[in-house]
Amino acid sequence: MEKFVSNRSSIKSVPEDYVFPQETRPGNFKIPINKTIPIIDLSEAQNGDRTKTIQQIIKAAEEFGFFQVINHGLSLDEMKETMSIFKEVFEKPNEYKHDLYPEEILKTCKMFSSTLKYECDKVHLWRDSLRHPAYPLEEWQHLWPEYPNTYRECVGNYSVKIKELGSRIMNLISEGLGLECGYFDNDNLSDSLVISLNHYPPCPDPSLTLGVIKHFDAYLITVLQQEDICGLQVLKDGEWIAVDAIPHAFVINIGCALQILTNGKLKSAEHRAVTNSDQARTTAAFFIAPSGDCFIEPTKDLIDEHNPPIYKSYKYKEFLTRYFQKQYDMDMVLKSYEEEEPKD
Ligand code: OGA
Ligand code: NI
Repeated sequence: MEKFVSNRSSIKSVPEDYVFPQETRPGNFKIPINKTIPIIDLSEAQNGDRTKTIQQIIKAAEEFGFFQVINHGLSLDEMKETMSIFKEVFEKPNEYKHDLYPEEILKTCKMFSSTLKYECDKVHLWRDSLRHPAYPLEEWQHLWPEYPNTYRECVGNYSVKIKELGSRIMNLISEGLGLECGYFDNDNLSDSLVISLNHYPPCPDPSLTLGVIKHFDAYLITVLQQEDICGLQVLKDGEWIAVDAIPHAFVINIGCALQILTNGKLKSAEHRAVTNSDQARTTAAFFIAPSGDCFIEPTKDLIDEHNPPIYKSYKYKEFLTRYFQKQYDMDMVLKSYEEEEPKD
């Protein structure tokens, strides 16, 4: 059976290896849209009340680990144009998807279905995915898909703008935490950008399947683009809440690395994606990430005798390896470090 779900349009029922156990399947996946996840007008930071905008961001990052931004500087037309190129990737035939990357490049750029280890999945996810680094552009662009033939140029220009948007948000965050501008936005700490595209085809029974399982994002922040189709859910105080789908907005969420750097002040929230039975949904996640060799540890300026560090120092590369081993669970990753502490 072909593994890419986007090439199985005629499927009438959910195959057994896609059915999640009772405890993790969404069951009632159509939960009402929660309007409390803040929508923040970023133009206000430049032309209006900057302090208020910063406060809104910090409050949202502390309470939800999630917020949406509007008036962020990218036009709806360029967002739509890029999204239509992303969608085209998943409309291509199986051969294109299989042949996209030769073995030697597969370490960095991947077209895959479900997870990076399809063969090891207990249950498969109802999604296909394309993931590749995007920054610095000169280093990666030539490894991106050649088709659609506008991909490299269009996604390249777009990535530069997303990276710039990410920097602006990171700078507002550092200002809000009383740190100097550029604290998190420097060549070492936030010098990577990884693009991760998700495509969730219509599913015959969304109550049984998941597009993405419950997880924390590992990076500093994620900039997520979706269209007008809902599917993203966030775990808040033990309950799933649905994030509204606003085509001209980006969803921003705090990743594990930023939670550690801020000594737990900003929260990385668990989230998942559910499928739906009527329409395919495509999303683009842009992960702003530290370089692998840098150490992630509570920022000195945020710790004192009243706020002792609650996390140890981790080499980011090592953190990531454990993150994938522990199935995207930050608590498990941090616990695994504790367990390995030498006993005296
Ligand atoms: C992710 C993610 C959610 C979505 O890619 O990390 O959480 O709605 N995606 O696609
Ligand atoms: Ni995520």
